[in-house]
Amino acid sequence: MSETGSHNDMAEPEEHLPATHGAHGTEAAVPGDPFANPGHPEHEFRRQDIDEKAAKHSERVVAGLFTLSMLGTLAFITSFVIFPVDKYIYVFPLGHVSALNFSLGLSLAVALIGIGAGAVHWARTLMSDEEMPDDRHRADADDELRANIEAQWVQGAKESAFGRRKLIRTTMLGALTLVPLSAVVILRDMGPLPQDKLRHTAWAKGKALINPNTNKPLRPEDIPVGSLTFAQPEGLNEEDEDFQQQIAKAALMVVRLKPEDIKDKKELDWSHQGIVAFSKICTHVGCPVSLYEQQTHHVLCPCHQSTFDLSDGARVIFGPAGHRLPQLRISVNGEGNLVAMSDFEVPVGPAFWERG
Ligand code: FES
Repeated sequence: MSETGSHNDMAEPEEHLPATHGAHGTEAAVPGDPFANPGHPEHEFRRQDIDEKAAKHSERVVAGLFTLSMLGTLAFITSFVIFPVDKYIYVFPLGHVSALNFSLGLSLAVALIGIGAGAVHWARTLMSDEEMPDDRHRADADDELRANIEAQWVQGAKESAFGRRKLIRTTMLGALTLVPLSAVVILRDMGPLPQDKLRHTAWAKGKALINPNTNKPLRPEDIPVGSLTFAQPEGLNEEDEDFQQQIAKAALMVVRLKPEDIKDKKELDWSHQGIVAFSKICTHVGCPVSLYEQQTHHVLCPCHQSTFDLSDGARVIFGPAGHRLPQLRISVNGEGNLVAMSDFEVPVGPAFWERG
């Protein structure tokens, strides 16, 4: 290696440097013993150990690499700001590539490689590389061993010169502080925050329940006792960008029970002549619930068999679902059509982190 050499062909180490180790082991070699401990080879000092100018040079290289990393991170953020997504540039030998992707990739690579290369160079050239014998011992550490390790740790920290080499320390901390900013920038680019979309569906006061097969409003007389049908809110526009999401979130299951069979008072209050409406999205992981047992009023989710009792506020009576199915409060309007009295009062679907 160009930066190392045997202490035999280099100048003698200065006083503050670690003492040279001769070949040694923890046990004396026994003549004829095939398992004798050969001991350590003679320690070889690196040029930086015995030449302060070489050590200073390595220090500048390490600082330069950390500085390069900082510049890479700044270039990453700058690229993100200045390059539009539709700008392409020619890069040999790749051809035409997105200027934004190319500059983000290149600058992030420089930032990460700068930190890595700086740390490796620091460890190889400036940190202590003195061989330390550590004999096999019992698995549990005794007090003496603990004290020994503690002393080695303190010595290692001292010899890494973290406290003494201020330039390295400052630039390394700068590089490590800046590099996470790249992740922040990328996260910010993941689109708008969902905000209220997680809490609300397309249902609102006065919106008619539409039969998705006929596209006509549902009327109480369309729903005989014991039947189950589905509904979607009126006014959804297929041209809307989020049409499919709105349909999926607002999916509604409408069942007619005998009013005297309804055990939950709130459910009864929110029904109309025994017609109850519940979200069709399973509160476990969101499969559509649809297998209805007329005799028991149970509805089953086909994915993991969560079972809800529709005569008792869609209470979970079996399976992994953690919540009841949300109920939609309904009534009839002046034209005799079934309408919603509000949106769902709780978010629909799988467990929601702030659900009441
Ligand atoms: S999604 Fe319904 S039980 Fe799992």
